[in-house]
Amino acid sequence: MTTPITQELVEIKYTLYHKKINDALGLCFERESPATLYAPARYILEGKGKRIRPFLTLLAAEAVCGSSDNAFKVALAVEILHNFTLIHDDIMDQAELRHGRATVHKQWNINAAILSGDMMIAYAYELALQAKSNRHAELVHILNHANITICEGQALDMELEGKNDATIADYLDMIAKKTGRLISASLEAGGVAADGTDEQLQSLVLFGEKIGRAFQIQDDYLDIMAKEGKSGKMAGGDIINGKKTYLLLRSLELSSGADHDLLNSIIINKGIGAERVAEVKTLFMRCGVLEETTALINKDTEEALAALDNLPHAEGREYLKGFANILMNRDF
Ligand code: IPE
Ligand code: IPE
Ligand code: MG
Ligand code: MG
Ligand code: MG
Repeated sequence: MTTPITQELVEIKYTLYHKKINDALGLCFERESPATLYAPARYILEGKGKRIRPFLTLLAAEAVCGSSDNAFKVALAVEILHNFTLIHDDIMDQAELRHGRATVHKQWNINAAILSGDMMIAYAYELALQAKSNRHAELVHILNHANITICEGQALDMELEGKNDATIADYLDMIAKKTGRLISASLEAGGVAADGTDEQLQSLVLFGEKIGRAFQIQDDYLDIMAKEGKSGKMAGGDIINGKKTYLLLRSLELSSGADHDLLNSIIINKGIGAERVAEVKTLFMRCGVLEETTALINKDTEEALAALDNLPHAEGREYLKGFANILMNRDF
């Protein structure tokens, strides 16, 4: 008889793998010189990153009946690639805080942040080539595809900032690219490293696309709704920057009168002063958009779970499902 995979077991595995990933990341970028190149890479990896993507890579390897050991190096590659995107994203979003610490371009400067990020991409590919797998070309292809897709998503994110008639469909397409693809690629790479079949990889990718979408919608929700200090980012940064999130676009449809005028002013002025964040937050709380957002996150997660049903390893499948549930309910 197999042991049921409880949430507690999922959390234990997450804690265990989180530590293993952090220990290995701590050994990357050991060179001291040039300090302005390597120290920023070490700095961002020392932050309180959740390590969601490499954890998914390792779980995916197990879910196709392989060993997470085969996927370990590519899991590190995915996390380093992700952290490169965060360094550059913070420049683009003019963000000053990440996980409660100064962002890389604030701690150093924009040039150092660009260059460290660039170096991290190459470093990530080197790690992917060290995975214990004979499918390196596929692994590199997956990382390339994800990397190009993220760039497309980030370009769309910026284009939408300046667009007054952005739709919810525009938003969903943009987040699938800037966030969904790296999450699905993390799973796909784990499946490839552990020699999964095409059919298994398709299930993993679909699962990743669905949880990836839920994950970014939740990120946008927490950007303004997280409990004081919990997000480690500047509260309301998205509305300050005039980001076209589901919260903003859907609340525009749900509101009328002065509420509608306030939201419209965010669109027209491409943002709002930090002193008005609290006002927008109460507006979101009373117009019903928060309930709709939670319902959308839950629906995407349910669809994600259904995508896993034909994976061969029952226990591995249950770990993926359990982790998707943790992500759906996250407040971090
Ligand atoms: C932040 O990703 C960027 C998004 C795609 C929302 P995470 O929330 O996974 O960031 P870390 O890895 O925990 O720092
Ligand atoms: C980031 O989206 C997506 C990428 C890094 C590609 P956000 O801009 O919402 O991420 P945070 O909130 O700064 O982490
Ligand atoms: Mg950002
Ligand atoms: Mg951004
Ligand atoms: Mg965000």
